[in-house]
Formats: sequence, structure tokens, C-alpha cells
Amino acid sequence: MLQRSPEVSSAESRRSEPRPAVNPKPEAPSRPPAKEGKPAPAPPPAEKRDALVVTDHRTGKTYELPIRDGTIRAVDLRQIKISTDDFGLLSYDPGFANTASCRSRITFIDGEKGILRYRGYPIEELAERSNYLETAYLLLRGELPTAPQLEQWTFDIHHHLLLHENIKKLIEGFRYDAHPMGMLVSALAALSTFYPDAKQIDDPASRDLQFYRLIGKLITLAAYSYRHSRGLPYVYPDSDLSYTGNFLNMTFRMTELRYRPHPVLEKALNVLFVLHADHEQNCSTNAMRSVGSSRVDPYSAIAAATAALYGPLHGGANEAVLKMLKEIGAKDRVPEFIQKVKRGDCRLMGFGHRVYKNYDPRARIIKQIADEVFEVRGRNPLLDIALELERIALEDRYFVDRKLYPNVDFYSGLIYQSIGFPVDMFPVLFAIPRTSGWLAQWEEMLLDPDQKIARPRQVYEGSEERRFLPIEDRSAPS
Ligand code: CMC
Repeated sequence: MLQRSPEVSSAESRRSEPRPAVNPKPEAPSRPPAKEGKPAPAPPPAEKRDALVVTDHRTGKTYELPIRDGTIRAVDLRQIKISTDDFGLLSYDPGFANTASCRSRITFIDGEKGILRYRGYPIEELAERSNYLETAYLLLRGELPTAPQLEQWTFDIHHHLLLHENIKKLIEGFRYDAHPMGMLVSALAALSTFYPDAKQIDDPASRDLQFYRLIGKLITLAAYSYRHSRGLPYVYPDSDLSYTGNFLNMTFRMTELRYRPHPVLEKALNVLFVLHADHEQNCSTNAMRSVGSSRVDPYSAIAAATAALYGPLHGGANEAVLKMLKEIGAKDRVPEFIQKVKRGDCRLMGFGHRVYKNYDPRARIIKQIADEVFEVRGRNPLLDIALELERIALEDRYFVDRKLYPNVDFYSGLIYQSIGFPVDMFPVLFAIPRTSGWLAQWEEMLLDPDQKIARPRQVYEGSEERRFLPIEDRSAPS
């Protein structure tokens, strides 16, 4: 069981101060000019050390910033000032394109090589040999479970599949056509009111309880949001079924006495859940850590992370891919669509990634399971359009030069659709497994003595101080 490290026993001790400023060094004297016809003497070989030497040409001062694990600390830049009342140099990094916000031991990605590992295990091996709940254990506990540990973990999660009956009333309050992701975000935030004990985030046992509840209840909430949009009665979990089998049961059961999930679909969903369980510091994980850094309960933080996932550039992309494929409509219209993308009229959804500059390893695995699902459910007619898009894009300079390859969302939607999920459920299907990753990242953030409340700086570009005018003296800006 994870223990809280002693360093974080009080909020006070978590507030680590910036490391002491490094002494500014006077600028090194410039080398004497080379004499006519003679080369300048070679500079003395620089002493090798883990440091970055920066010269501020506004002041002529030189600073040495320590390098650790390939990073400098942004706060070390603050000593670089032009005067004593200067705030100090900031790094400007919209979208955190080159900023490490944490140290993590959970997920490793090498975007150039197309590598993804959870706790050191390659995603390909986990997809083939693990299942979602075992992978969730790995993410949260750091090691693969033994057989008794997995049995207990599975029991604890299944024990928490049921929702308080009042949640049904909450879901019923939504309009019939409410987006299931909107319902999920709201219901997750509402869960914090059902479990006020979740505020005890410094208690490892309380955190564990919230892990069971959240991982368990996610599939029930997801299924309820679907049933509501269809006007169908809610289905309770069946203790004989697996996690993914139960999700299929609660989503699709009609009048049959017992729902038996198709093993191929149950397995496909399991693999998709493994693939989506974590992806280091993406937009929603950053939201989870950032909101969690205020020390709010995990339900509220997960509601924020789920909202971040909803966006079309993140977890909403699989939904956007299906809409795009439908709009294209036929294979022979693909070249025309590619031209639109190249003109900048729209994006090729399901392509490109901030980190992967190579084929997303998850997309490769998804393509394989797609074939298994299509064998059971029949070929998805949109597949031909997707394959043609991929074929053309992988040969086209626009995509090749920008290193744009299919990402996890390009084929996942086709599988979800073939299993029977409507398009607006796709981001919900992403949120279910990502919950374990969010929780692992949240706990890592809580236990990290380096972390403090997330609070970026800004470069202010607004008006200087000005006087308030009474309304009768104001004119509309031209
Ligand atoms: N279609 C066309 N052009 C693209 C695309 C795309 N899908 N993605 C990036 N580009 C171009 C972009 O226009 C830019 O070109 P230029 O240099 O000429 O201005 C260049 O490639 C770099 O793009 P960027 O927007 O600076 O890259 P980013 O790292 O900020 O964005 C991304 C990453 C995933 C938001 C982006 O690739 C995108 O919008 N993809 C489509 C949406 C999508 O599939 N999202 C799912 C991501 S994977 C699942 C997840 O983690 O959520």
C-alpha cells in the first residue's frame, strides 16, 4: 500500500522554497584581438559540469544555472535582473511546450521513437497480456499485483460499482439530448457531496477508498448517462461480470434476463481501456494536477480533468474523427478533403500529437483490434475512408514535414461505433480508463515535496493605471 512520505506531513513542509539563487559572475574578460596574420589563441577547454552559463547583455552579467536531469529550474532565472526592484527574468511558455511541471515515475513516452510505457512496461505488452484493472493497479501502486492482490483490488472496485440512488435523480434532471460528457462532468462533481470524507487527502486509507469508488463508479455513471439519453431504464451491475463486461451490461442490456457480453467486444474494450489509462502530462492530467494542487477533493479535481478531456483537441478528438469521416462521406472525396486541410480550412482530426512525432504506438494496436471487432460486427463502412486518409496523408509532404501521424483517436472511434456506442459517448469512453491515470498522477503530485499550488505567471500587456470615469462621461471606443 502506498504510504504518504514523512516529508509531507504538514502543509507547511510542502511549500519548498526556490533553491538559493546562484551567484552572478562578472562577465569573463573578452579575449585579446588576434594579431595580424596570427590565429587567435584557442580558448581554454571549458570545464565540463552540469551547468548552463547565461550572459545577460542588458547588464553584462553572467550567471551559472545548475542543470539536473536535462532541466534548469525556471525560478533560477529570477536572479537575472536589470535592477534591484526588477522582478527578475521569467520564462514564457504558452501551452507548456517546453516546461516540465513535475517529476514523475508513472508513464514514459519517447515521442520520436513512438515508445509508451507505464511504470516501465511497454504498452504493447500490457495491451496483449494485462487487463484494465490490473493496469490501473500498476499505475496506482507502481508494481504489477500478485494474484491475491489483484483479486482483492478487483473485489474492492467491483464492490463500489453501485451509485447512490440520488445520482439517478441528478441525471434525470438533464434534458433528453444532453451530451453524456456534460452529464459525467456534473455527476463527478456531485459525487464530492456524497463523499465528504474524500477531503481527507492526506490519509492514505481515504485516498484508497476514493480510488475504488471512482474507478468503480465511472462505468456506472457512464452507462447511466447513455441510458438517460436513450430514455432507457438504468441497469444495475452484475457481480458475475468483469469490469468491461459490466460496463457493456449496464449500457446495452435490454429485456434479456442476463446480459452476456460478447467476449471479443469485452476484450476489445479492455485493450482500449489499457491503452487510454495514462499518457503523462497531457491537458486533462495537467488539469487534474493543477486543480488538485489547491488540495480540493479528488472528485472535484476529476470533474475538472474530465472537462479538459471533453475538448475536441483532446479526448473529444475521437468524436471529431467520426464526424469528419461522415462529412467526407466517400473514399473518392478524400483528396479534396486533404486539400482543405492543407489550405488551413480545417484539421485532419486524429492526426498529430504534441509529443509523438512518429506513429502513435496506441494507434498501431488499435488498428489490430479493429479487425477483430469488425469480424464480429461487420466492417465499419467509414473504415475505407479512414484508411485512404491515412494512406494519402502518410505520403503527403504537408503531413510528412510536420511529422503528423495517426494518433490514438484516429481508429478508436470506428471500434466504439462498431461495438454500438453513439458518437457522443466516445469521450466518455476515454474518461473511464483515464481515471486511473489521473488518480495516480494526483497522488504522485500530493506526495511530491517539490509541488505547490499551481500558479503560473503572466506577461501583462494591458492598460497602465487609469482613472474611473462616471458613466455619463464615457464614449464608446471607436
Ligand atoms: N491537421 C492538419 N495540420 C495539423 C494537424 C492536423 N491534425 N495537427 C497539427 N497540424 C499542423 C499545424 O497547423 C502546424 O502547422 P504550421 O507549422 O504550418 O502552422 C503544425 O502542424 C504544428 O501544429 P501545432 O498545432 O503547433 O501542434 P500542437 O503540438 O500544438 O498540437 C494537436 C497537437 C494534437 C493539438 C494537433 O496535432 C491537433 O490539433 N490534432 C488534431 C486533434 C487530435 O487528433 N487530437 C487528439 C490528440 S491524441 C489524444 C489525446 O491525447 O488527447
